Amino acid sequence: MDAQHNKQVRTLQREIAGMATSDGAGVKLMRSLGSSQFARLDPFLMLDEFSSENPGDYIAGFPSHPHRGFETVTYMLDGHMRHEDHMGNVGELKSGAVQWMSAGRGVIHSEMPQQVQGRLRGFQLWINLPAAEKMKPAMYRDIQAAQIPLVTLAGGAAVKVIAGSVTLEGTTVDGPIQGLSTEPLYLDVFLPPTSRISFDVTAGHHAFVYAYEGEVTIGTQVLKNHSAGVLSEGDTLELSSQSQATRFLLLAGRPIGEPVVQYGPFVMNTREEIEQAMKDYQNGTLTDAPV
Ligand code: CO
Repeated sequence: MDAQHNKQVRTLQREIAGMATSDGAGVKLMRSLGSSQFARLDPFLMLDEFSSENPGDYIAGFPSHPHRGFETVTYMLDGHMRHEDHMGNVGELKSGAVQWMSAGRGVIHSEMPQQVQGRLRGFQLWINLPAAEKMKPAMYRDIQAAQIPLVTLAGGAAVKVIAGSVTLEGTTVDGPIQGLSTEPLYLDVFLPPTSRISFDVTAGHHAFVYAYEGEVTIGTQVLKNHSAGVLSEGDTLELSSQSQATRFLLLAGRPIGEPVVQYGPFVMNTREEIEQAMKDYQNGTLTDAPV
């Protein structure tokens, strides 16, 4: 790419509306990406938003369950969730915190709300792993709110950089999660009324926007609330709010380009590997170190 290259602005290409569903032991949530096998965006498999002030919608949580072959990223906006896994790890996620968990060959964990009243609100994102990393040992990181850079721009926009790096008004900001092979960029953006923001997103990476408060305008197209807006190819993004403030997530990542075979919490490349995962889970060897 030479200096003469004119930047191509990414546009809204496709909208995946959030659908009300429930998961775990009956947690009510909105699923956009991942609501069907056709609603993925390599390397992203699924995005769930949970948001309720009614404990009945979330209190049962996500009791012990397995994962293999991908990463789960839990970002809490409000509330308090505790996770425990088969390795004996225990972590507490409070407002603004993120858990980045790479299931690799296997993790068995629970994710349980630690409150009996008040609002529980947040997201769980599933990011695929390339074949070469699907059978690696499980690992995770808890990132507290204070470790996530929050940048406030001249026009009042505010950006949290959870993963990857972004250049805003000439300054590059690095999030705490770096160095993954899918090179994820994970931003949480606030725009006050009638304001705009523009930044580059690596060309060739797949990207989407998820509006969780209000609507966001992508170029000249409006993305509805609780919808994932898949972006076209390009280098840069121009996002704006209208008469109301907006909050949205921006996700981008390097596509893996491999076949995806999913059965519930197992995401592999072939049906045989899925059958092996189910066998390993039944035999109690899902999480064992390879022999
Ligand atoms: Co889980």
